[in-house]
Amino acid sequence: MSKLWGGRFTKETNKLVEEFTASISFDQKLALEDVEGSLAHVQMLGECGIIPHEDVQKIKAGLHLIKEKIEAGTMNYTVEHEDIHMNIEKQLIDLIGPVGGKLHTGRSRNDQVATDMHLYLNRKTKEMIHLVEAVQHALLNQAKENVETIIPGYTHLQRAQPVSFAHHLLAYFWMFERDKERLQDSLKRVNWSPLGAGALAGTTFPINRERSAELLGFETVYPNSMDAVSDRDFIVEFLSIASLLMTHISRFSEELVIWSSQEFQFIELDDSFCTGSSIMPQKKNPDVPELLRAKTGRVYGNLIGLLTVLKGLPLAYNKDMQEDKEGMFDTAETLEGSLQLLAPMIDTMVVKKEVMRKAVNQDFSNATDIADYLVTKGVAFRDAHEIIGKIVLFAIGEGKYLLDLTMEQYKQFSPLFEEDIYTVLSPEHVVGARKSYGGTAPTQVMDQIKLANQRLLKQEIRHI
Ligand code: ARG
Repeated sequence: MSKLWGGRFTKETNKLVEEFTASISFDQKLALEDVEGSLAHVQMLGECGIIPHEDVQKIKAGLHLIKEKIEAGTMNYTVEHEDIHMNIEKQLIDLIGPVGGKLHTGRSRNDQVATDMHLYLNRKTKEMIHLVEAVQHALLNQAKENVETIIPGYTHLQRAQPVSFAHHLLAYFWMFERDKERLQDSLKRVNWSPLGAGALAGTTFPINRERSAELLGFETVYPNSMDAVSDRDFIVEFLSIASLLMTHISRFSEELVIWSSQEFQFIELDDSFCTGSSIMPQKKNPDVPELLRAKTGRVYGNLIGLLTVLKGLPLAYNKDMQEDKEGMFDTAETLEGSLQLLAPMIDTMVVKKEVMRKAVNQDFSNATDIADYLVTKGVAFRDAHEIIGKIVLFAIGEGKYLLDLTMEQYKQFSPLFEEDIYTVLSPEHVVGARKSYGGTAPTQVMDQIKLANQRLLKQEIRHI
């Protein structure tokens, strides 16, 4: 089997070297992007009069046949032809004869592979935006059902102040909103075309880079051919956005694991999202959120891996850059799988409102509200804080909560306490009183839901 670049060589490549340097085992994932890039390139070559029109037609027909084979899964790839670019070019020449060899005029594998990666990430980033949106819909639907559901709010994983469960869920809605904005923004840079940069210095042929970019749907072209073939920033950017997204998925997963534990029992995950134990018949394990939490590690790893590959590379292309692919595919696939599971898991989880509500009765998370009560009666907050600290200590000693203390007991700490303290201390009142913008009062949460709805609607209109 003769190599496409065999002319300068007198010896066959060592078999181990062939295996070691080949990327076809993984870059075949770029097959359709590669054909797409070639179709645009050859069209442009024809339009610029660089190769005759009949040859363009023959090459296009051959590329379409190859595309069909790729889609049908009947392509044969060989390690001898190293990567997806040379495998496809070899098949083209086998199919249509030596005229296929004209396709590579005015380009190199260096701008070709960069083009493929840009096309791939453009597609994946858009898919990711839709998948994140599905998770946001699931969060929003659960939030709508739980505006009045009260749950202990935590800081340091210690009960702090009660909150609306919807408020807690919506915090994640906004994290995902920012992730989506980042994905959207990154498309600006993904949409630069490297095609026509050649090996590194441009080409002697009168090509039209804007034209091939336009045919591929790119927004602009790299103004510098050396940057075009050696830039992998757009992949680093995707991997870092994905890492932050996984951080959010992982934090939420951690909450699901905690909430579904025997100790909390705030939610129950649907049976279809849990697995059992091979020895303990009573177990229902939250394997899915646990794995989502753990998958974050490999996504971070892919980011660090690529940053490390790039950090010492001189311009322009270096073979090291071939190592950009597996991590990128792995991250895209991991993220896709994670988001696909997360949405239905949120949709189907059962929220145990009663248990949540009971939990709030058995804590001191209304303590700030008695302090605020004294403040409205003229006591300085710092002094009020001190008084309530003493009340809490007293209640703990008595084995009671704040709502259980008698009026007489309250009066011992301050004569300003009146009967209305019992209303102020009810969890509904505590939550409802936090009406400041972005606060947890149901009125505020309803406004937040409206805002979230509008955001999703606006984006859906943009997609149409
Ligand atoms: N398989 C190579 C890669 O993924 C394609 C570019 C090869 N270019 C070269 N000059 N060897 O990076």
